[in-house]
Amino acid sequence: MDAAPSMSRSVRTPGYWYPPPTRHEALQFSQPPDMTSGGFFFSGVSGLNAEVAGDRPRRMKVATISVHAGTPEGPNAPLTTPVVQSTTFRFENAEAVQRYARGEGGLYMYSRDENPTVRAAEEAVAALEGAESCVLFGSGMGAMTAALMALVSGGDEVVAATALYGGTYKLLRDVLSRFGVRARMAEPEALVEACRRGGARLCLFESPTNPTLRVVDIEAVARTTRGSGAISLIDSTFAPPLVQRPLALGVDLVMHSATKFLNGHSDHLCGAIAGRKDLVETVRGVARKLGAVLDAQVAYDLLRGLKTFALRVERQCASALQVARWLESNGAVKRVWYPGLPSHPDHDLARRQMNGFGGMVTFSVGTREKAFRFWDRLKLVARAASL
Ligand SMILES: Cc1ncc(COP(=O)(O)O)c(C=O)c1O
Repeated sequence: MDAAPSMSRSVRTPGYWYPPPTRHEALQFSQPPDMTSGGFFFSGVSGLNAEVAGDRPRRMKVATISVHAGTPEGPNAPLTTPVVQSTTFRFENAEAVQRYARGEGGLYMYSRDENPTVRAAEEAVAALEGAESCVLFGSGMGAMTAALMALVSGGDEVVAATALYGGTYKLLRDVLSRFGVRARMAEPEALVEACRRGGARLCLFESPTNPTLRVVDIEAVARTTRGSGAISLIDSTFAPPLVQRPLALGVDLVMHSATKFLNGHSDHLCGAIAGRKDLVETVRGVARKLGAVLDAQVAYDLLRGLKTFALRVERQCASALQVARWLESNGAVKRVWYPGLPSHPDHDLARRQMNGFGGMVTFSVGTREKAFRFWDRLKLVARAASL
């Protein structure tokens, strides 16, 4: 009869798991303990990115990536990504701890620093955005806070578009200002000029903007920002990867409230920063200290939501265009803002820059009273704040 597998063999996972990011700041030994030979719980990786980066890179469409990214691969791998619901991870011996501290060997220590399920979801979002790296957070605001705290310091100036999500604007106005970060606001159409003036550390903008869905020339802003030596950061929540590819247009970092289109089910808060590896890893380092990290169960739900991402977003774009056209043809509606309508001031730019026009539509019925009356008479549409 075969001998029973040893305990250490039975708890090892096969080689399908995602490795943690290589940069570790969690443990720093001034005098490393002198121990020999170690092992590790989670071993190597053959995830989607490994294949994309292999000898013959496979070019996949966003729709395909959204189904497959973040899914374990390898012999006898589970079809769905396991939820690793553990705050902490075992080390086989002190030598393994030292290797972890050096960022070697694909080891995990503590889920505020890194967690395999969260790692898989980060790989998925990075793949969707065509990013070198991604770090996920417990909310979009967690992502924005960590990014700004990581990349700007007291005395620095941020060029920011006036049309910003209210939470982001208040973060700049009420919180970061107390730490000496100055915000220079510019209208979306004046952003390129504002960046050309130089002197800023970071340019922060959205496209399409909330609520009038103005479309910013992303490529021009990214180029000018880089030319001035600053970092460009776009909040692309309104235009997820299928609709817009900010990194391909030259932006350094893209942020998402993944609470919205990426998750897609209005059941979890989540935020993402993706883009240039050096910048993302700087943000990750600060994220670990701030602690607004993503929970493994939410990471699993994000991966699950992503499987239908392309179907949902395609349908949302198609429905939004249909609704916008209908509203525009309705005599009771005074004005409709939707980049897919020829009447929108940025329609031509949107056609050049976006694949589809997004799922958000804004319209006016003329007065506050009429708007309230309309709002109170809604039957099927939920009176709720989110997208
Ligand atoms: C454009 C935009 N950015 C950021 C956020 C903040 O994201 P979260 O609610 O996930 O913190 C939101 C939320 O509504 C948003 O619409």
